[in-house]
Amino acid sequence: MEALNLENVLLEIETLKNSVKEEINKCSGEGQLLAVQVKYLGRKSYLVSLTKKIKDLPDNIKPRVGKAINETKEYITKLLEEKKSEFSLSEKRKTRGAYDYTLPPRPFPIGHRHPITQTIKEIVEIFKTLGFSVYESNEIESDYYNFEALNIPQNHPARDMHDTFYLNLANPDKPAEKLLLRTHTSPGQIHIMEKLTPPIYVIIPGKVYRYEDIDTSHLPMFHQVEGLAVDKHITFCDLKSVIYIFIKSIFSEITDKEISIRFRPSYFPFVEPGVEVDMSCVFCAGSSRECNVCKNTGYLELLGAGMVHPEVFRHVGYDPESITGFAFGMGVERLAMLKYGIQDIRAFYENDIRFLEQF
Ligand code: PHE
Repeated sequence: MEALNLENVLLEIETLKNSVKEEINKCSGEGQLLAVQVKYLGRKSYLVSLTKKIKDLPDNIKPRVGKAINETKEYITKLLEEKKSEFSLSEKRKTRGAYDYTLPPRPFPIGHRHPITQTIKEIVEIFKTLGFSVYESNEIESDYYNFEALNIPQNHPARDMHDTFYLNLANPDKPAEKLLLRTHTSPGQIHIMEKLTPPIYVIIPGKVYRYEDIDTSHLPMFHQVEGLAVDKHITFCDLKSVIYIFIKSIFSEITDKEISIRFRPSYFPFVEPGVEVDMSCVFCAGSSRECNVCKNTGYLELLGAGMVHPEVFRHVGYDPESITGFAFGMGVERLAMLKYGIQDIRAFYENDIRFLEQF
């Protein structure tokens, strides 16, 4: 074995350090790094074979060579570790690419209530403050509830106003009787009066169906809110004041002007007397000049109402001599159109998010 001289050994170690550094820098993957580690720190490496030779060295240089070997091993290990953590960092960056977990989350758009639902809610709230309770009633009705009990017998001309969707379903209670989709919320009046005893102050919101052609003011499905008050001594005056308070409240935010309300005689078989309620046009403020909403009449038709017909009370077993009542029914879409200045009823059901977002 050739004699080892301290200077040479230290020089060789220094050269080795440089080439290790260079090779590690060139590494582009963990595999290559492992190869460098085996080459410089493995069993057959220069440093290991040098370590084996230490015992043959003169005593005075043994510690210096040993120290140099140890320092070099530490140096190489450190370089390897640094390169390794560099790799794992860039690996993390690569996979993170599309997701930066440190960013705050994007706000998630939250939906809101449909304008018709909002309008129903508003109507309901107003009547609640007036002491009315809220009920729901069936959308599938029998002929009896939708017509007969409301004083609209078979072949009554009023049936022509209700283009009815009849259902191909057997009525479990009366197989001979047809089932249909309610054409108005008024059958709810009958159900309520059959269940409760007066005093009754209720409203019944819900969907109604009519076999009609679709145009700017007609849809085969729309919403109504029915009202019913039954008590001792209820008069037409009560009906007028409830309607007046309601209209003033529901339109309060779009007009601070005095609203004038008109009760026009009308005919509904289940009320007597029957009226249609008009309000001064909110668009032209009743001036009736060039207004295509009220068609220059200065008034807008709003709802049907009247005093409950004695015949209806008899159908539910009430005594028309001892109690009286009023009822009204309004179209929710129509009310919303007037409230928000919408010209086409179809806008509510086209599901155009740009339209719906405005409410
Ligand atoms: N049900 C009637 C309609 O749909 C409205 C109405 C209800 C009229 C209650 C009078 C009383 O046209």
